[in-house]
Amino acid sequence: MTMHEDALYDAIFKRRSVRRYAGPLEPGTMEEVERFAHSLKPLFPDIRAEVRFIGGDDLRGPFKVEAPHFLAIFSEAKEGFAANAGFMLQQMDLFLSSRGIGSCWQGGPRPTRDVKKVSDRNFVISLAFGMPAEEVHRQSVSEFKRRPLGEMTDIQGMERLLEPARLAPSGMNRQSWYFTGNEDVIRVHHARSVITDRMNQVNAGIALCHLWLATLHDGGRAELALEKDAGQDAPRGFSYVASVFSSERGS
Ligand SMILES: Cc1cc2nc3c(=O)[nH]c(=O)nc-3n(C[C@H](O)[C@H](O)[C@H](O)COP(=O)(O)O)c2cc1C
Repeated sequence: MTMHEDALYDAIFKRRSVRRYAGPLEPGTMEEVERFAHSLKPLFPDIRAEVRFIGGDDLRGPFKVEAPHFLAIFSEAKEGFAANAGFMLQQMDLFLSSRGIGSCWQGGPRPTRDVKKVSDRNFVISLAFGMPAEEVHRQSVSEFKRRPLGEMTDIQGMERLLEPARLAPSGMNRQSWYFTGNEDVIRVHHARSVITDRMNQVNAGIALCHLWLATLHDGGRAELALEKDAGQDAPRGFSYVASVFSSERGS
């Protein structure tokens, strides 16, 4: 685990959405954020995705927060693009929190005018951020409003990997994920929905990011994989998204 990944892992247990901002980042800090934005690891490397910093005027829609900066992700529309976007931008959410910078996912607002498209890639979702005017960190895990682990998995005894995934943020705090598997591999599934399917897939990507960091932290291989027949593992009403292997595949 790199120092960077360690800091992201620690932020899982403290982060919260920040909706009030004091102002923009210092230019030097902004440069660090830009550098990190270009090092985000994809969940599915074969999906072409790109992040762009945009201004608040370029976004409009419900539940928008007044923030000085927004990081938007654009992607080609390949299967898994929404989970891939969630996985990537969650690394930024955790990075910002680890640096004491406020951030909030923005599922409601959509871009106006010319920022709708970047080359052949479509806007997926954005993350608002800036200097916080409220608490960036929670004092303890008990402050997270989340369902108990037993409602989101049937796996026993893997709390060290699943508890960080349980704490993941989600649109409208739906926690629309389910975990199956064993001590070698954990599979993540998203709740199917007519209205919020895309958001549910973003949410599953966010949970996968936490699961991946937890597996790295645990000293495991943390290999991200798309297993061929894992769809059979999905509970009723859920669709398989991806897996994280903590030990050698096939062993
Ligand atoms: C995909 C996604 C979309 C979200 N969209 C919005 C939004 O449009 N506006 C907002 O204020 N919060 C939004 N949120 C923040 C959630 O409401 C928040 O993460 C959740 O309630 C859990 O709270 P916490 O992040 O403080 O732990 C979104 C979160 C996610 C993951």
